[in-house]
Amino acid sequence: MKICRTVSDLQSEVTQVKLENKTIGLVPTMGALHEGHKSLFNRARQENDVFISSVFVNPVQFNNKEDFEKYPRDEKRDLAILEECGCDIVFVPTAEEVYGNEAPETFTFGALEQVMEGVQRPGHFSGVANIVSRLFLWTKADRGYFGEKDYQQIAIIKDMVRQKNIDIEIIPCPIFRDEDGLATSSRNVRLSPEARQIAPKIHQILLNSYRQKDNLAISQIQSFVEDEFKKVKEFELEYFCLVDDTTLQPVKVREAKQGVVGCVAVWLDGVRLIDIQRYW
Ligand code: PAF
Repeated sequence: MKICRTVSDLQSEVTQVKLENKTIGLVPTMGALHEGHKSLFNRARQENDVFISSVFVNPVQFNNKEDFEKYPRDEKRDLAILEECGCDIVFVPTAEEVYGNEAPETFTFGALEQVMEGVQRPGHFSGVANIVSRLFLWTKADRGYFGEKDYQQIAIIKDMVRQKNIDIEIIPCPIFRDEDGLATSSRNVRLSPEARQIAPKIHQILLNSYRQKDNLAISQIQSFVEDEFKKVKEFELEYFCLVDDTTLQPVKVREAKQGVVGCVAVWLDGVRLIDIQRYW
């Protein structure tokens, strides 16, 4: 595995790959790698000639300084996992290397960012678009792999690709869950053992509501989920939104054949966890 710490080093590796007419699959990460990342790595490796990843805790996508500082970092462990997963090239830059002295670009995404994470974390998606657009351009990737837990992020990245006219296919990948149903996340390691026992209830609540979906109106699914979260005193529900699966606009009454996804953000033990459930 080639470790690149500068953009020019990365670009010369990529030039070589492209001269050989090989396809590139990219999995951008912020490190603290877990089984969910590994499932993305496996797909990128299987579906492309060359698999590139990046490990970079992107400061401009954090709207909360403490969250940035507390973000788990262990480069040695991450590189060992990537090597094990068959990564060909990993990009591990510093913030200076990525942004230099330039102010980050401001991206806007209209209605797509006026809901959920976009409301709770102002500037977050512009920060994500800054790093992801750079990575797409520098790696010339044919395919980019992203986990569906960050459902809104995928919609935003697709829109950024459209805005910038980047030639890449965005591949959404199913959520990887621990055996007890908790969606894998780099933030899970910050949960106390007691909170870790409670966390799978997020998925259980969503799944219970899903099982009743055909007998409930959208507003009843909404109240059911909110009530179930209230019953667990350790949870502080930030939002639960039932949204159109493409426009991400809230659904009040489901139209025929409309795809609907429920997205949740909840605080537990000082850690913010997100998850999703597809209803239709
Ligand atoms: O989903 C993430 O881990 C990050 O938002 C990403 C896509 C690696 C950009 O920093």
